[in-house]
Amino acid sequence: MASLEGQVILLSGASSGIGAALARLLLQSGSRVAMLARRGERLKVLAAGHPQTSLALTGDITRPQDRKALVEAATERWGRLDVLINNAGVGHYGDVLEANEQAWRELFEINFFAPVLLAREVLPVMLAQKQGLIVNIASIGALVAHSDKVTPYVASKHALLGFSRGLAKDLAGSGVRVKAVCPHLTATEFFEVSPGAAAMAPEVAKYRSYMDTPGEVAQGILDQLDDDGLVLFPTEKPQAAYQKMREL
Ligand SMILES: NC(=O)c1ccc[n+]([C@@H]2O[C@H](COP(=O)([O-])OP(=O)(O)OC[C@H]3O[C@@H](n4cnc5c(N)ncnc54)[C@H](OP(=O)(O)O)[C@@H]3O)[C@@H](O)[C@H]2O)c1
Repeated sequence: MASLEGQVILLSGASSGIGAALARLLLQSGSRVAMLARRGERLKVLAAGHPQTSLALTGDITRPQDRKALVEAATERWGRLDVLINNAGVGHYGDVLEANEQAWRELFEINFFAPVLLAREVLPVMLAQKQGLIVNIASIGALVAHSDKVTPYVASKHALLGFSRGLAKDLAGSGVRVKAVCPHLTATEFFEVSPGAAAMAPEVAKYRSYMDTPGEVAQGILDQLDDDGLVLFPTEKPQAAYQKMREL
């Protein structure tokens, strides 16, 4: 963005990884940041030192009342909403038939329905302002099946990219823009907390040294928010990986 100072930003999943790195950079830039995650104590640590420009809300992005509370807290405090960053998400590793119906539904609740429904909460405010930006943190798995045994995750992120694409088209000319971010391997807790993480660990270990850091990904996102186009690769690595996979 030309300047992030003073921008009112809603950020889900700020307690760890890419979200925490985004929160740090945004608060350093003078943005006003409302953060939501279940581990609220971590959000309070990020907010410390920024009492005027931070809101730390403990909540679950899949709960309607928690999504509403995030939007209301920011609008009541600051009177506007400039950017929604739908970052909270979870992975899933395992044989496709081992993922039961509940596992599929839970994954889609976090990775697809929560971002869609949070966008629905903020859009009336942004459309009235004739200005806003919705940033959906998707994945390279939104563009290609980037690995074996990640079918539910790939499906959820393809759905999120499809939503972003349709929304961008529908909002053209409204002043509200949409970006879909496609990171690749990033060294976060994602590979420890996602369902199937233990089984995935040997595979993950092979790529550890190749991973982007959350700080690199967060900086790459913020540097490109003003660029044209829907899909944003935060660093060169996911872009190169995508080109390679497209050629296969
Ligand atoms: N790491 C990668 O290689 C990679 C690659 C491509 C895309 N991504 C995407 O990047 C995004 C961030 O992932 P990350 O790598 O930074 O993972 P992470 O370190 O595990 O962070 C995930 C964040 O999401 C939050 N979250 C998860 N479920 C939530 C819920 N129900 N309600 C509220 N918050 C919730 C977590 O907070 P709490 O647990 O405190 O609630 C945490 O702050 C995700 O959308 C992920 O799919 C990651």
